[in-house]
Amino acid sequence: AWEPEDDERPRLGASGPVKVRVPAKINLHLGVGPARSDGYHELSTVYHAIALHDELTARRGDTLTLTMEGVGTGELALDESNLAIRAVRALARQAGVPAHARLHLRKQIPLAAGLAGGSADAAAALVACDTLWGTGMSRDDLAAVAAEIGSDVPFLVYGGTALGTGRGETVSPVLARPTTWHWVVAIADGGLATPAVYAELDRLRALRAAPPPLGSTDDLLAALRQRDPEVLAAALGNDLQAAALSLRPQLADVLKAGRAAGALAGIVSGSGPTCVFLAYDASEASMIATSLEQAGVCKEARTATGPVAGARVV
Ligand code: C5P
Repeated sequence: AWEPEDDERPRLGASGPVKVRVPAKINLHLGVGPARSDGYHELSTVYHAIALHDELTARRGDTLTLTMEGVGTGELALDESNLAIRAVRALARQAGVPAHARLHLRKQIPLAAGLAGGSADAAAALVACDTLWGTGMSRDDLAAVAAEIGSDVPFLVYGGTALGTGRGETVSPVLARPTTWHWVVAIADGGLATPAVYAELDRLRALRAAPPPLGSTDDLLAALRQRDPEVLAAALGNDLQAAALSLRPQLADVLKAGRAAGALAGIVSGSGPTCVFLAYDASEASMIATSLEQAGVCKEARTATGPVAGARVV
């Protein structure tokens, strides 16, 4: 009979399908430093996982395949360039096992939206194949593999609310008493390419046409601890917002419409073009979402609570 040793987790793998849910992320604070020699920017950010989920199912197979349904079907490449495929290959290399799995993605998180949807799918694929193959990695092990795939991928392995440093890949959880925040997510027509938004920020800064950098996350972290939405609203900030607005001036109308509808604050999410609004409570959030859709300033407005867990087997 198989007997577990003290600190050894089962390495049996799963015979049936493994289904993983993974959230989108927003940045409550996104402080962007100067460009580094490797082309990345030094970040000080506070990540926050919200209840807008993708779902990835992994099954046993003789090769590695990826299929999908939902948002982005027909647009998202399902080949070796896909972040989920790249994540599975990296995990297989690390664990010394063949990269064999049939992956199926059910997508709700829009593409190139500033919500880290592609990174979320990579995190989900890591958690799913770790269980499917019985590779028995810890969250920290998976986050280390995740960092090779993209700056936001480690955060989506953990979820919750967390501080991100380096290029965003170094993640440490924010310890705060549990509070649920109510967000409205205004999804735009079309996406923005993240590298283009960072490049636009560099250009604006060189022209001295960007607002002063946000700097430290201290005020945001202090605001989170106060558990008051008005206090948190005043502390939200994103250095990429000016660049996203410069590339997509219509986003100013979205931000204005959200505030007019009663949001406590609105910011561009990550590199945009999604805008997120903080609402006082769940019923305010629904009203703001309805107003945004009626104003016709976005493709779709959804409510989402946060924080929520990262990629998890369900
Ligand atoms: O890490 P990831 O591949 O998701 O980053 C996508 C792009 O975003 C990078 O190629 C870079 O242009 C930009 N980026 C950056 N600084 C960061 C993170 C991302 O300039 N800290």
